[in-house]
Amino acid sequence: MKKPVRVAVTGAAGQIGYSLIYRIAAGEMLGKDQPVILQMLELPMDKAQAALKGCMMELEDCAFPLLAGMVGTSDPKEAFKDADYALLVGARPRGPGMERKDLLMENAKIFIEQGRALDEAASRDIRVLVVGNPANTNASIAMKSAPSLPKKNFTAMLRLDHNRALSQLAAKASVPVADIDKLVVWGNHSPTMYPDYRFATVGGASLKDKINDEAWNRETFIPKVGKRGAAIIEARGLSSAASAANAAIDHMRDWALGTNGKWVTMGIPSDGSYGIPVDIMYGFPVVCANGEYTMVRDLPIDDYSRTMMDKTLAELQEEQAGVASMLA
Ligand code: NAI
Repeated sequence: MKKPVRVAVTGAAGQIGYSLIYRIAAGEMLGKDQPVILQMLELPMDKAQAALKGCMMELEDCAFPLLAGMVGTSDPKEAFKDADYALLVGARPRGPGMERKDLLMENAKIFIEQGRALDEAASRDIRVLVVGNPANTNASIAMKSAPSLPKKNFTAMLRLDHNRALSQLAAKASVPVADIDKLVVWGNHSPTMYPDYRFATVGGASLKDKINDEAWNRETFIPKVGKRGAAIIEARGLSSAASAANAAIDHMRDWALGTNGKWVTMGIPSDGSYGIPVDIMYGFPVVCANGEYTMVRDLPIDDYSRTMMDKTLAELQEEQAGVASMLA
């Protein structure tokens, strides 16, 4: 049996947390031969801590063979101590009357504190996934608040958008989801994201040629993927949780165990490729192998794509400007 690895999850007793921690403990994220120690962070309030206690009791009752230990805490440094992986799910939701700018600032406070705690306490090889919204900007803040950790180890979750796009494409083309490769979702995890299937293949042939419907692409597909989160809220009365947890598992599993050459979308700090300024946390196509991701480079960008990619970039830059004073 391998040595256990430490997996930190913040907001562990929330909606997504409740769909996530049991799957991690069952080996769905890091493999059925990889024991894990779960280190779970929740707010210090009695209600949150009691909910976390309940979740831990249920973890016990699952008797997962791979669960080698668990910690429940309200102290970020304790949650991140020696952690090999961190899934930062907990974030401040938008309250009544709260402006977007206030939401950004409240979350900036959380991700500055958590970035510093990661910097101080986590394994030097930690791999961080930020799920809590605004995910790209929160990931960027955590990265900048942890200067002793490699920047490339901070990522934001675009995988739910990627998976949503895959399903829509599979349905439109009447092909199995698993047969589609080379899909990209560029940019911010927000309705400005740009799902792009120009390079996508199905069984090696062009998916774009198979679909051959540019009006559907622009008028149905792109808006549908962008507004899917809102559609789920309208239908369920609650935001996506099972699919968000599933996407977090997919993101981390692929990063840790590899994609066998398949493209996936990850929010990663830009290296300047595709005209996206350095360090902007942006959705890019990547392949993963040996615990590292590599950006898929040099794809041709046409005029329509450039406009879409710049629009989502502008939103990210606006978010960054909104929190710049806090990072100064
Ligand atoms: P939730 O409100 O059910 O759970 C969040 C949990 O985090 C709560 O239990 C809360 O007590 C805890 N929390 C809040 N601040 C914390 C902090 N500073 N430290 C530790 N714990 C903290 O929310 P849900 O549905 O689980 O969503 C979590 C986040 O994920 C939200 O920001 C949501 O917008 C985001 N999200 C992101 C997606 C993506 O694709 N990137 C998709 C779906 C949701």
